[in-house]
Amino acid sequence: MNRINRLAAMVSLASLFPFVVHAAESKGSVEVVHYWTSGGEAKSVDVLKKIIERDGFTWQDSAVAGGGGGAAMTVLKTRAVSGNPPSAAQIKAPDIQEWGRLDLLTSVDDVAKANHWDNLLPKTIADSMKYEGHYVAVPVNIHRINWLWLNPVVLKKAGVSKAPATLEELYAAGDKLKAAGFIAIAHGGQAWQDTTVFENLLLSVMGADGFKKAFIDVDEATLTGPKMTEVFAALHKLQGYLDPDGNGQDWNLETAKVINGKAGMQIMGDWAKSEWTAAGKQAYVDYLCVPFPGSQGVYSYTIDSLAMFKLATKNDNPGNIAARDDLAKVALEPEFQYVFNQNKGSIPVIKGLDMSRFDSCAQASAKDFANAEKTGSLAPSMAFNMSTSQAVQGAVFDVVTHFMNDKDADPAKAGKQLLTAIRAAL
Ligand code: BGC
Repeated sequence: MNRINRLAAMVSLASLFPFVVHAAESKGSVEVVHYWTSGGEAKSVDVLKKIIERDGFTWQDSAVAGGGGGAAMTVLKTRAVSGNPPSAAQIKAPDIQEWGRLDLLTSVDDVAKANHWDNLLPKTIADSMKYEGHYVAVPVNIHRINWLWLNPVVLKKAGVSKAPATLEELYAAGDKLKAAGFIAIAHGGQAWQDTTVFENLLLSVMGADGFKKAFIDVDEATLTGPKMTEVFAALHKLQGYLDPDGNGQDWNLETAKVINGKAGMQIMGDWAKSEWTAAGKQAYVDYLCVPFPGSQGVYSYTIDSLAMFKLATKNDNPGNIAARDDLAKVALEPEFQYVFNQNKGSIPVIKGLDMSRFDSCAQASAKDFANAEKTGSLAPSMAFNMSTSQAVQGAVFDVVTHFMNDKDADPAKAGKQLLTAIRAAL
């Protein structure tokens, strides 16, 4: 049989067995816009896909590459504006409110009630997933931002005897690594990565209180004061240790430089661990994780959540609604929470899971989260959209990037620029 005839035979066979074809079809589809595209992230999201498929639904993957999610948010906005939203999208809490105000989200209260979300989730997290009192999103994890990742073999070769605990020790380790011919700090020069470094320095210099005054209260004295000058001066200093070839690089390619022994350290949220895990490396054997120097008591975090969208008329059918509800339900089930977070580098968002099933970095993270909660030192990340809307986050990105691109920029003036930019974006 030639190709055309084979095709014709297949088509006529299919028309003879319409029911067989139907039986193999899924019960409904769920389309998810997300930005989990690095090796480790893709492995993590695959856990969700497999469970959804096992439940008989179709997973429609709409991954948009780009760390930090800027590109994904642009795609999401375009899709929403043109009346073609996905079933769900990876969004951070303050933006959930904005999407809610646009009347684009749908309530999943029924799923939440049936699965006791109010008891499973810490109250503040539960509240942030609600719009006007109704659950419109489901959180999947807690990522700590203020981490330093280190390759102990590289440190040893460079004569660095212990992981830095203060900024001075960080600079000293950086000097040794550079002198030994290594990249001191793997870093991709992208606005969100630059701002991650800035935010960590701010936590180190100003602590959780200073952070809250700056980015939650938008307090003028804090944003323009001498401590902020110190933060920007430290940023200039730290730039001298960042990967000279890092311009525009993706974060995971920079993580790979630490894994492969080209660089000694990386300042990154714990999704960086997903790359180590995917490469078969083990915490405290192949790599070290310590809180960003000087920010030990503070726990800066971001929470990934999947916001549930009202389906476009053409997709709005019971099968697709059931698929979306299944996604919401699965996201908070222990089975998913364990495997997803082990792969992703984050810690579970639901209470009471057995942390002995996690590596030592995740165990330290869970312990530090609990302590920071008690001492009021939890800092919802500005750089990752937890304390700020995307607009404010973008304004900070601009100021930080400009500052880093201009080595003559005056640290004493940068705080004022930050204040002006934030106010304009509010
Ligand atoms: C998200 C993480 C993601 C990281 C890198 C953060 O905004 O919370 O889930 O791994 O960006 O893209």
